[in-house]
Amino acid sequence: MQVHVADHPLISHKLTLLRDETTDSPTFRRLADELVTLLAYEATRDVRVHGVDVQTPVALARGVRLTDPRPLVVPILRAGLGMLEGMQRLLPTAEVGFLGMVRNEETFEAVTYAERLPDDLTGRQCYVLDPMLATGGSLAAAIAFLVQRGADHITAITLLAAPEGVARIEADLAHLDIPVTLVTAGLDERLDEHGYIVPGLGDAGDRLYGVAG
Ligand code: PRP
Ligand code: URA
Repeated sequence: MQVHVADHPLISHKLTLLRDETTDSPTFRRLADELVTLLAYEATRDVRVHGVDVQTPVALARGVRLTDPRPLVVPILRAGLGMLEGMQRLLPTAEVGFLGMVRNEETFEAVTYAERLPDDLTGRQCYVLDPMLATGGSLAAAIAFLVQRGADHITAITLLAAPEGVARIEADLAHLDIPVTLVTAGLDERLDEHGYIVPGLGDAGDRLYGVAG
């Protein structure tokens, strides 16, 4: 897996505000949204395009257009929803599929509770959105799901990742023969005994939407 840790002062600035425990939910949602749009710029570097001619008021110019089938954006519910609008701002014509996953907080195993995706993803480029890559269970399961349906190019966008999670994804997906890239605003130090990213930002879903219980 190719790992790209964003290195930009604006991203670091917004990530610092996002981490701050005094940042309230509305501000957290706005910052997550802004961060995704900045990360999406890097994450879509390999988006598939084809050459076209365009008639300007002055002359014919050579340009590009997104290739069909359009990319598929897949937010992992619930916290990934907080990244969807920011991604769509940059890729407004992308299709959107949904995966609902929740981590068992004792075993750290990811359980899939909802799925709304095209049955056939053959040849599709997929952009998976999830703010947190902790143990890697959720993201590894999501990627495996998409590849099983035929996706042949995966980019995951996270706000924070832990080294343990990155290592797990690399191990779990080592047999895959397709390009997988991770674009993240930050790669933190480690996980704590509860599987939380340290220093992290806490529970992303709760900070976006309130405590789920
Ligand atoms: C969080 C987060 C990731 C997952 C990361 O979701 O949004 O999906 O945990 O942990 P992992 O890398 O160890 O799998 P959570 O399960 O809390 O659900 P939520 O989005 O509904 O809050
Ligand atoms: N899920 C979160 O929301 N935060 C973490 O630090 C780990 C998993």
